Amino acid sequence: MNQTILAIESSCDETSAAVVQGGKVISNIVATQSVHEQYGGVVPELASRAHQKHIVPVIDQALKQAGIKKQDLDAIAFTKGPGLLGALLVGSSFAKSMAQSLGIPLIGINHMQAHILAHFIDEPHPKFPFLCLTVSGGHTQLVVVHDHLTMEVVGETQDDAVGEAFDKTAKIIGLPYPGGPLIDKYAQEGNPLAYEFPDVSTTGLNFSFSGIKTAFLNFLRKEVQKDPDFIKNNLPDICASIQHTLIRILLKKLKKATKQYKISEIAIAGGVSANSGLRKTLQEMGKEKGWNVYIPKFEYCTDNAAMIAITAHYKYLKGEFEDLTVTSNPRLKF
Ligand code: KG4
Ligand code: ZN
Repeated sequence: MNQTILAIESSCDETSAAVVQGGKVISNIVATQSVHEQYGGVVPELASRAHQKHIVPVIDQALKQAGIKKQDLDAIAFTKGPGLLGALLVGSSFAKSMAQSLGIPLIGINHMQAHILAHFIDEPHPKFPFLCLTVSGGHTQLVVVHDHLTMEVVGETQDDAVGEAFDKTAKIIGLPYPGGPLIDKYAQEGNPLAYEFPDVSTTGLNFSFSGIKTAFLNFLRKEVQKDPDFIKNNLPDICASIQHTLIRILLKKLKKATKQYKISEIAIAGGVSANSGLRKTLQEMGKEKGWNVYIPKFEYCTDNAAMIAITAHYKYLKGEFEDLTVTSNPRLKF
């Protein structure tokens, strides 16, 4: 089947549209909202307004890049959740009206499931069952992926997400939002073992990151008291050490999960999978342990509609459609 689907992503601060045809993504347009930088985090009301402003030009561009006319579409997909309610509603309302006016089916997508299925946009695809460490600004999960649409969360954060830990520690040292990529950048010139931060013990395959943030804040307060220029003079070492701690916590639980589930097909997904330290450490660990490691292309790590489109492809094949009464769900689970 060569069905053509338009997919819309609007769960947080990226407005994105993509077209998938017969399982091949043929366009992907992402408009990032820079308005949040000055506030140190995403402001939900501003995100909704920016989505409203961007959604029409982004969809037009995605269709144009794909060489597709609206009349050629077989279905419209949108992110149903999890995410910010106001932001999700912009995408879902648009998708519903477009599907209704064209008389074609509507497909609702789980954003976290889509992050994982980003691995099916290009070859090679992980083999089932695989284990995916999904790390974003809102989630930190260990997921056993049985097939495209059957996924089981076997561990998750009990408080902050790891992306949040990156962004909050970055904010403490005066870096703008989102701080994760900046920590990554400065860390490349620093010593990861310069400072040590304690791991917080958690049960089973679960994570906890709020304690790290507090330990980091206390450490900095003490150092800045001794030397007011401590942050300025040691930025690379500070970033490398905090990044090293966060990666160590993630990979410790990932290793535990591989043993518990006896799986050696390993993937990472979500915004934090763009982190160069995590990518490198996981590659090395994979070689040492004999795992097959799958790391997404940079453009498919952070939020994008290509991943929504590929998930929609699998849902279309199974005939999993929504009716027009479908509602956005900020806390949607698998
Ligand atoms: O998946 P995503 O784009 O949005 C959510 O679904 O949350 O993830 C965004 C998160 C932010 O916390 C951002 O700081 C983090 O991903 N991030 C990174 C890097 N690139 C993005 N964190 C660390 N290193 C990076 N290179
Ligand atoms: Zn995301």
